Parts: sequence; structure tokens; C-alpha cells
Amino acid sequence: MANAPLQLKEKDMKKTSSKAAYDRVLLKISGEVLMGKNEFGIDPATVARVANDVKEAVELGVQVCIVVGAGNIFRGVSGASSGMDRTTADHMGMLGIVINALCLQNALESVGVDTRVQSGIRMDEICEPYIRRRAIRHMDKGRVVIFAAGTGNPYFTSDTAAALRASEMNCDLIAKGTKVDGVYTADPMIDKEAKKYERVSYLDVLTKDLRVMDATAISLARENEIPIMVFSIREPGNFKKVIKGDGDFTLVTDS
Ligand code: GTP
Repeated sequence: MANAPLQLKEKDMKKTSSKAAYDRVLLKISGEVLMGKNEFGIDPATVARVANDVKEAVELGVQVCIVVGAGNIFRGVSGASSGMDRTTADHMGMLGIVINALCLQNALESVGVDTRVQSGIRMDEICEPYIRRRAIRHMDKGRVVIFAAGTGNPYFTSDTAAALRASEMNCDLIAKGTKVDGVYTADPMIDKEAKKYERVSYLDVLTKDLRVMDATAISLARENEIPIMVFSIREPGNFKKVIKGDGDFTLVTDS
């Protein structure tokens, strides 16, 4: 069922520059999205499609920043569970994110979207270091900022990096692009009776273990009152649709 257009929060009323319901959005993309139908790695056609989706949002006048994961390349947690040192495994995961970030940057620039990659771990020859005020300035100039290397620290996930950067950037929304079109009472791929939530509170996500994002990310978003919109990024054009308040998604919010 399609959601009704979103109510703007009072603080948002002052910002009227974009045609969307939000002015500054952090898009979280899991690494798996970038592999398309493959079992690992990067599918260039899928990355190009995601880049087009981002372009459509930018054309609406929305400021966009992106946090990408690395599940298509390397997962720190899996590395650790197979006997690797956790910190080393997480460092490898963060380097995987940098690869995905550079790939997204290339795809976005191919369709004419100006971008900057900022990394949480310094690698000055490859991209800019993360500097909060500079990232905001880039977005004010219409550039898409891709935050790479997660939080720059082991033991955190790219979901936590998304909530952290969204908080630092004063984003109005975390848009979490996933394989499914929202949050369900159970895994819809397994349980045919699973029902989709239109809205759900942060606390319900945590207590019912709804697995939208990890608990640290949910708590951070809750503390900073940033709604999380869960939507399917597999459907072309969906990102633009959902940030206008149309289409299918679940909103995690207390309001
Ligand atoms: P404005 O000052 O707003 O115009 O920003 P700008 O990013 O265009 O200017 P700047 O001269 O800082 O950067 C020019 C280019 O160099 C951009 O593509 C940046 O991403 C890149 N750049 C800036 N700092 C670094 C860095 O520390 N490392 C790497 N690899 N690239 C950088």
C-alpha cells in the first residue's frame, strides 16, 4: 500500500529549496546491492543504475550524501567468525567500502553528477579525508559526498557509519536502500504471512529485533531524531519516488 505524503517536521518547514519532502538525505546502500545478480563483486550495470537513481534525486534539489557497505567484497564479521583477528577483518571491510565508494563516484561522474569521496581513514592520494564542515560545503554546492571507510574504526558497521554521518551532516532522513520494500513482521522471503509496517518506532525495531539496521545505528538515529526510510533500491527510479513521499517504504520514526 502506498504511503501518504510525509508530514514535514517544524524545522523542515523553513527549508523549501527542494521539491522532495526532505532537503538533505543520507542514502545507505548495502554492498550487496552493487553486485546485482552476481554472487560477489561489482556489477557495472547495477552501479550505473544506482547512479542514475541518485542523479534523479539530486535533480529534485535534494542534497545527497552516501554511505555504502562492503558485503559484496568482504565482511569483517564473517572474517572474524572464521578465525581472523576482528580488527584486521574490519580494516579489510573498510578498504572494501573504499573500493565501492570509488566505483560509485566514477558512475555518478559519468552521468554528470559532481561528487567528492571523503574517507574516515586517511588515504590522501586516493580521496579527501573526512572533514565535517567541508562535506557540508560540498553538499551546499550540489556535490554528492560519498563517505568511505565506515566510521574509520573497527567494531562498527557501515549502518552505524550511516547514522553517525547523517547526524553530523544534520540530515533530515536516512534512506536505507535494501532488497525489500520495507520492514516486515518477519522475513518476507521465508514467511508468506509476514506483514509490512508502514511506520514503526525505533524502540519496536530494537525490541522486536526487526533487523532494519544494527542497534547502535538505530539508537543513534533515535537520539538525533532522524527518521529511517527503508525502501527497495532494486526498483529503478524508486529513490526519487520515496523521497517525495510516494511509493512503498517503511518509515522508522517516533513522530
Ligand atoms: P571547493 O574549494 O569548494 O571548490 O572544493 P574542491 O573540492 O573542488 O576544491 P579542492 O581544490 O579542495 O579539491 C579539488 C579536487 O581535489 C577535488 O576533486 C577533491 O576531491 C580533490 N581533493 C581535495 N583534497 C584531497 C585529498 O586530500 N586527497 C585527494 N586524493 N584528493 C583531494
